[in-house]
Amino acid sequence: MSPTVLQHPLALHVLTHLRDKSTKPALFRTLSYQISLLLALEATRDLATVAKPVETPLETITGHVLAKPLAIVPILRAGLGMVQPFLDTFPDVSVGYVGLERDHTTAVARSYYCKLPPLEEKRVLVIDPMLATGGSAAQALGVVKAAGATEVCFVCIVAAPEGIAVVQAAHPDVPIFAGALDRSLNAKKYILPGLGDFGDRLYGT
Ligand code: PRP
Ligand code: URA
Repeated sequence: MSPTVLQHPLALHVLTHLRDKSTKPALFRTLSYQISLLLALEATRDLATVAKPVETPLETITGHVLAKPLAIVPILRAGLGMVQPFLDTFPDVSVGYVGLERDHTTAVARSYYCKLPPLEEKRVLVIDPMLATGGSAAQALGVVKAAGATEVCFVCIVAAPEGIAVVQAAHPDVPIFAGALDRSLNAKKYILPGLGDFGDRLYGT
């Protein structure tokens, strides 16, 4: 399954400012909100609905409401920059957390936190802005599946081909949604052209 990449012109506009090294954390957080909202809508385009009668001021019609609750699982810490638009947009969304941190030398992710709501009956979106080697995403997807999630997708802002290949190999059933598909990784496993360290830019560290 090929990744779905945002096509909206606003995504290109927002990404350009996110990539700009002169963008300061306050604007970086606003831009993260904006592109995450576009991604939230794209990644939920196929959500099931059920019929529900509704009385308008003039007549009764058959409306439709969301059939299944949603859960999002941001990968700490940078994934927190994508949470708010999901909370603002979707009713009854549950939030779980998986804490992973890449080692600066090996780029291998170490788990340091995990707190998940019941996931069995929910559409689960694992969210993390950067899909680089794919190690963090593959690990987090394994964690939510082990906790009972059966309908899972992965949502990121920038993806590298290397990361996509790793996630697709480990989790062929998981659709990937990305704001942009970048060229490759550098020797330190950062995405090129990328936008640098997302967590550091989000929180000014
Ligand atoms: C970043 C990013 C992903 C991970 C991607 O987090 O937010 O979680 O790297 O890299 P990978 O695909 O090679 O695993 P980082 O480990 O820097 O931690 P942070 O969110 O605390 O900044
Ligand atoms: N994590 C980031 O924040 N940026 C990258 O380019 C790779 C991993």
